[in-house]
Amino acid sequence: MCGIIGVIGERNATPILVEGLKRLEYRGYDSAGIAVITRDGSIGITRSKGKLVNLENRLAESPCTGLVGIGHTRWATHGPPTEKNAHPHQSRRCAVVHNGIIENYQELRRELTGQGVTFASDTDTEVIPYLIDRELDRGAEPAEAVRAAIRLLQGAYALGILIQGADLLIAVRRGSPLILGIGEGENFIASDATPLVPYTRRMVYLNDDDLAVLTRTNVRITDLRGHAVERAVKISQVSADLTDKWPYRHFMQKEIHEQPTALGETLKGLIRASDLSVDLHDLQGEVDFSQVKAVNIIACGTSYHAGMVGSYWIEQLARLPVSVNIASEFRYREPPSLPDALTVVISQSGETADTLAALRFCRAQGQKVLGIVNVPESTIAREADGVLHTQAGPEIGVASTKAFTTQLMVLACLSLALARAHGRLTREVERASVEELMRVPARLEQVLLQDGVLQRIAGRFMNARGFLFMGRGTCFPIALEGALKLKEISYIHAEGYAAGEMKHGPIALIDEQLPVVAVAPRDPLFDKVVSNLEEARARGGRLVVITSGGHGEEKLPFAADHVIAMPACGMFAAPILYVVPLQLLAYHIAVLKGTDVDQPRNLAKSVTVE
Ligand code: G6P
Repeated sequence: MCGIIGVIGERNATPILVEGLKRLEYRGYDSAGIAVITRDGSIGITRSKGKLVNLENRLAESPCTGLVGIGHTRWATHGPPTEKNAHPHQSRRCAVVHNGIIENYQELRRELTGQGVTFASDTDTEVIPYLIDRELDRGAEPAEAVRAAIRLLQGAYALGILIQGADLLIAVRRGSPLILGIGEGENFIASDATPLVPYTRRMVYLNDDDLAVLTRTNVRITDLRGHAVERAVKISQVSADLTDKWPYRHFMQKEIHEQPTALGETLKGLIRASDLSVDLHDLQGEVDFSQVKAVNIIACGTSYHAGMVGSYWIEQLARLPVSVNIASEFRYREPPSLPDALTVVISQSGETADTLAALRFCRAQGQKVLGIVNVPESTIAREADGVLHTQAGPEIGVASTKAFTTQLMVLACLSLALARAHGRLTREVERASVEELMRVPARLEQVLLQDGVLQRIAGRFMNARGFLFMGRGTCFPIALEGALKLKEISYIHAEGYAAGEMKHGPIALIDEQLPVVAVAPRDPLFDKVVSNLEEARARGGRLVVITSGGHGEEKLPFAADHVIAMPACGMFAAPILYVVPLQLLAYHIAVLKGTDVDQPRNLAKSVTVE
């Protein structure tokens, strides 16, 4: 949440900052700003409410140049998304960009107000430059002033700091991600590697409580006591290409259509096609599946829904007990330690604060943690004992699509690997399962041909007040995911429900106006879903049924308003394929409503605050 960039070099910092913010905009986009040390040594700040383009326009009207600078793209936590709350925040001698939350800011604000400070914003961040100023006034050197100031902070922060009169850039990290880029005659800071790879591939990942002082030619990292610490330089593999959405209108649309390729790429690292066996050769790190007695899945948002699907597969095949947890709940629940359990954390970004905190909690309890992560150099990928990468490539649209289906692909193979390690997988089932998974990309191509149908259905229901999604088994989490997609990008209220649970409440919502979307593959639960659909139809609900027909299967036993015809598929393919029409439905409704599909209001792609 919030993106930070900073540079100290020999060229004008402003375009580097603005280009960097473009690559970080997925982390938040309600306002943006930069600060540079200008030629006369003062700090010049330009900020703007709304998307980055507003900042660019402002900079075009009144350019701001300097060789040292920091930039920020915001996702509001404290204070509405106005210009006065946009970062950088400044005091007399200092400018700060911040990602995270200062939990004791009110106390600090009161103290500073008592000392004569007048705050210009509603943010928690603004106390930081004033605390640094106070230390500078007491005669501290820049790094010492920052160190003394952050000792007073409680909460999470990644900070980029400029100090007037000091030809340097200071970076500090606790909790929120921050890395350094080591260039030739120039050095950088950023929330992740994406904005830095056009300039350098040499990255240093800061640990918590590291403070870095960057000059053009040197980087010095110290701990909170000022003692020098060594951090390795890693070579980033992140692609330097600014992802292009052409020929699609939106990144989300492109990413939906990239799913067959992404799934094929992901599967390559998880199976051996020659003998149709599961072979997690992409697994990095050490995890002994045969020792696992239970599985504890932890994630947020769409990744949590993937975890729910995975729990059905693991229980069914490996016969291991599985718990699925929302990370923000898990971390404060004081769960008992389960030394024989494998914790599986699932995260597209690999940076979600709650998921990361849960990972650290479980590792501290002595549990092995396996990460399922899409961003290879992310914090979760670095801290987990073992990592299985989804090979979805960069996902730019805030609403997750290809990351989700590739997570399902990894979980399918993980469940097979766990089953085999526990002697519960026959060769026959393994072969049939791998074969089924290998067919998924081609089947998904077929599903994508339904795009036009989904577009028409979207036109029919775009003005609906609400939507109900329902499914059973692994398609219950798919119903939840369908509802989430719709809420995220079209701002229509939607509920996902276990079909059998409808009669315990949501059925009261059904009338002639309410679209009810059923995720109904022809699996052993199909007849039960049909009964639930009959109940909805009897109450006048407008039925959209996603199911398969033909090919020897019976047609739907009753009339639905719309039927999305799916290819026949087995237990692994069903949730992967059936979520795609729901992604397309949400996408087309959002386009018709004219919302900002790739950057929907109030959301961010990477949630690095709890
Ligand atoms: C945010 C994103 C969602 C995502 C969730 C978890 O809310 O908007 O798309 O599912 O975070 O993110 P993660 O990166 O941990 O999968």
